[in-house]
Amino acid sequence: MSTAQFIPKTVTNSIEKANYTWKTPSNIALVKYWGKSNPQIPKNASISFTLNNCHTITTINFSKKAASGNIQFEIFFEGKQKEEFKPKIADFFERIQEYCPYLLDYSMVITSENSFPHSSGIASSASGMSAIAMCLMSFEQALSSEEMTSDFINKKASFLARLGSGSASRSIEGPLVVWGKHPEIEGSSDLFGVPFPYQIHSVFENYQDTILLVDKGEKQVSSTVGHNLMHQHPYAEQRFLQANENLSKLSAILQNGDVKSFVALVESEALTLHAMMLTSNPYFILMKPNTLEIINKIWNFRAENNSAICFTLDAGANVHVLYPEEEKEKISQFIDNELSKYCQKNHYICDNTGFGAKSTDL
Ligand code: PMV
Repeated sequence: MSTAQFIPKTVTNSIEKANYTWKTPSNIALVKYWGKSNPQIPKNASISFTLNNCHTITTINFSKKAASGNIQFEIFFEGKQKEEFKPKIADFFERIQEYCPYLLDYSMVITSENSFPHSSGIASSASGMSAIAMCLMSFEQALSSEEMTSDFINKKASFLARLGSGSASRSIEGPLVVWGKHPEIEGSSDLFGVPFPYQIHSVFENYQDTILLVDKGEKQVSSTVGHNLMHQHPYAEQRFLQANENLSKLSAILQNGDVKSFVALVESEALTLHAMMLTSNPYFILMKPNTLEIINKIWNFRAENNSAICFTLDAGANVHVLYPEEEKEKISQFIDNELSKYCQKNHYICDNTGFGAKSTDL
């Protein structure tokens, strides 16, 4: 599939001022993306649960400029102007300029807020970039003299979001999204995320994710540095093959409801992501002592209660505790009684799978 389909061709309507607001979620990968080539092409396919409660709400105000020129924007985050956010977003706009040429004709004011506390260690790039991408697509639709299908809008929004942050391509739809070309996932692409195209077993519906905030600090290793470390990594090629094989296995598991295999695969993926960082040059330990305490407690609880509880990790110390909805009551108690003490200020966030971006415009 080519990128040319995302370059607008139609005559555009004339608009002086417009604003759009979108709420888009974070996501948590089950098979991880770690390693890419230019421009944001993943080395392996990945799949994630779209979250529901952890989200970003973003409004973009567009005003027509007297003359077309450089991309102009201001950014406000949680009520404050944020100069320090500008370089990353300016890079993003530059990367997508070819696909959104109208950006040159307008100045933009972006206002954004997150539902989760800032510096909670939860990456906000996926929800943040996908929210901007959805606002741009609403504007593009208004400018276009042709009706766009929702399928096209979602694909292009995911395509744009990907150019801001790879994992953001998986935050447009839900509850399960695949990003990266994979022979067994129909319609999958390196250019954008697609909803998992097969019927999932009922046990995976409304799956629960409680995020234990072990370390709320800035990420020790930025994704950019982390992805780059995979270029010289001695185990990289084997890892990319393994991830694609794991996606084949997980595709079958999601359809047949084999939760035991789900647990084994998802935990192995999380530990492998961390193993890649333990064995890179330079090397990093991104877990904290409390991450390990929590993992051991989860393993004991699972053995003692014949539970399907498991964990996954991002590139940091926080732990995502995953479990079926039917175990919610028992596991909520376990988390409150036995795991919350390992979190900074006992903080954790209860989330579950969700359905992706929502417009909040009337
Ligand atoms: O989207 P990025 O470039 O921040 O990379 C995210 C990578 C992980 O979160 C560690 C894994 C994933 O697939 O989301």
